[in-house]
Amino acid sequence: MRGKLVVGNWKMNGGLRQNDALLGDLRAAWTAPPGRQLAVCVPYPYLWQAQAALSGSAIAWGAQSVSEHAGGAFTGEVSAAMVAEFGCRYAIVGHSERRALFGEADAAVAAKAVAALAAGMTPIVCVGETLGEREAGATETVVLRQLDAVIAAVAMQLAALVVAYEPVWAIGTGRTATPEQAEAVHGAIRGAILERYGRDRADAVRIIYGGSVNDENVDSLVSKPDIDGALVGGASLKADSFARIVRARTR
Ligand code: PGA
Repeated sequence: MRGKLVVGNWKMNGGLRQNDALLGDLRAAWTAPPGRQLAVCVPYPYLWQAQAALSGSAIAWGAQSVSEHAGGAFTGEVSAAMVAEFGCRYAIVGHSERRALFGEADAAVAAKAVAALAAGMTPIVCVGETLGEREAGATETVVLRQLDAVIAAVAMQLAALVVAYEPVWAIGTGRTATPEQAEAVHGAIRGAILERYGRDRADAVRIIYGGSVNDENVDSLVSKPDIDGALVGGASLKADSFARIVRARTR
């Protein structure tokens, strides 16, 4: 069984004092029920703080990106091996903000996933269509193209990925995909993996949903058979709302 995974994506938010409170509250709220996993992906400078606050708890932590390069003259970049030294279990790669604002193409996202795996972390590979692409009927084509680039690069380690379906039009907009819309895409992703790589891998890979998830809609989303959890941005920044999310169907 895949279990359910909820991941908080803090994006470029936080500060030493508020992080302490948030991480402490989260640790107090999380009862670690069997088959349920929780993680937070924090800005690089706070990885040590997440490690200090969450070590010994059942809550994992991770980075929001990693460099596709192993090391060397890449000013401003942070390698997968570096973040792994801070105990990260996860690294988000290919978030739509990275793709849209920082020009990350499919090939770079694939290289980042490979780098994260090589450093012993689980890449959370984000895929998702824009509103224009959805309206043009291109959702599946776009999402599967983004995913194929990564799968081609990671090959047999496919089952070690977490895929996050995040429709771009739903991120930070308050406009969530309906559970039916999300399930349709999750089902298409799992179906494509099944067709090409067989049942074992299709059953093993976790596909989580992101885009304006909150404590009111999380239940109906994660109760769908192919939705294995949630990637939560804005609502992960307040302990009370995030605690309600992680206690929902993920309890
Ligand atoms: P949101 O962000 O929950 O604020 O929409 C989700 C994400 O970008 O991962």
